Amino acid sequence: MKNKTLGIIGARGHTGAELIRLVAAHPQLELAFVSSRELDGQRVADHNPAYPGELRYENLDAAATGARRADAIVLALPNGKSADFVAAIEANAPDTVVVDLSADYRFDEAWYYGLPELTRQQYAGQRRIANPGCYATAMQLAIAPFKADLAAPVQCFGVSGYSGAGTTPSDKNNPDLLRDNLMPYALTGHLHEREVSRHTAAVEFIPHVAPHFRGLAITANLHLKKALTAEAALQRAREFYAAEPLVAIGADAPWVSRVAGRHHAMLGGFAVDADGKRLVLVSVLDNLLKGAATQALQNLNLAFGFDELAGIFPTAHEAGL
Ligand SMILES: NC(=O)c1ccc[n+]([C@@H]2O[C@H](COP(=O)([O-])OP(=O)(O)OC[C@H]3O[C@@H](n4cnc5c(N)ncnc54)[C@H](OP(=O)(O)O)[C@@H]3O)[C@@H](O)[C@H]2O)c1
Repeated sequence: MKNKTLGIIGARGHTGAELIRLVAAHPQLELAFVSSRELDGQRVADHNPAYPGELRYENLDAAATGARRADAIVLALPNGKSADFVAAIEANAPDTVVVDLSADYRFDEAWYYGLPELTRQQYAGQRRIANPGCYATAMQLAIAPFKADLAAPVQCFGVSGYSGAGTTPSDKNNPDLLRDNLMPYALTGHLHEREVSRHTAAVEFIPHVAPHFRGLAITANLHLKKALTAEAALQRAREFYAAEPLVAIGADAPWVSRVAGRHHAMLGGFAVDADGKRLVLVSVLDNLLKGAATQALQNLNLAFGFDELAGIFPTAHEAGL
């Protein structure tokens, strides 16, 4: 029984398209409208076969979005574009749940920062939800079990598939430039460095983009106050995420190819140096799923009081979770 409606602004993009696919299989969520300037008037089903029916993309600016009604609206726009939409929704339909996939509200105290495995205890019915960044999710899931033991900032070396750079053409999503290549960028001061430093622990983040399409890896280098064995570190992470179906823990360092297209994150590696005070672990996830659409769905489920894994569970099961 579909009993809540959702609008998606920026529905042509990588994350918007992924979300349409997930909503199609969600037992309680139905699309009310989807917006794209480029695909205005075209059938969603022609671009996203997972969503059959006659629903068409519309070109909704902020004012037109404010005039539409839905129980929730997901903003899947590039960074810096959400404010006008939020203001219009605020003015016309303040009770609408808004989930923003961009970084625009991740530093705003008035918004709930929705990384459910780490923050759901702080969810108290907020209707404004900032969805975390993809790299930021991977980093925080890796660091959280060891947060209390950190002696210094954590270094995180990141490699992402190029879908992380969105659809606006740039070097970072140009398959010709990426072929046989690894492209470093934003070597200091990346937004996700600030995001993780604000919400979990100080990090020094060094991102790269690679020629594959989806999935990212973070290799995190943690300096610890007290020595830990590799077994103890693994055990710590297992216990920390024991009740979390979307975080899988293993002894071996996980591979991006094994998590692409899946809902969950994987942590592994857990190598320590000779004195036990340096721990290295690897965190991988699909940037379009746990890094974006799956996490948005967890947050919508939480906001509506649904099972947090509604619409997510089948693939988690496939992964043997
Ligand atoms: N890609 C990822 O892995 C990922 C992961 C986590 C979070 N995010 C964040 O999620 C957001 C969306 O990312 P994405 O990768 O899906 O981006 P994308 O593929 O570039 O899509 C952006 C969407 O926004 C629309 N758009 C662009 N500029 C607009 C404007 N000025 N006004 C209205 N619509 C506009 C575009 O469609 P039309 O041109 O057809 O209107 C498109 O549908 C970004 O803020 C990104 O940082 C992305």
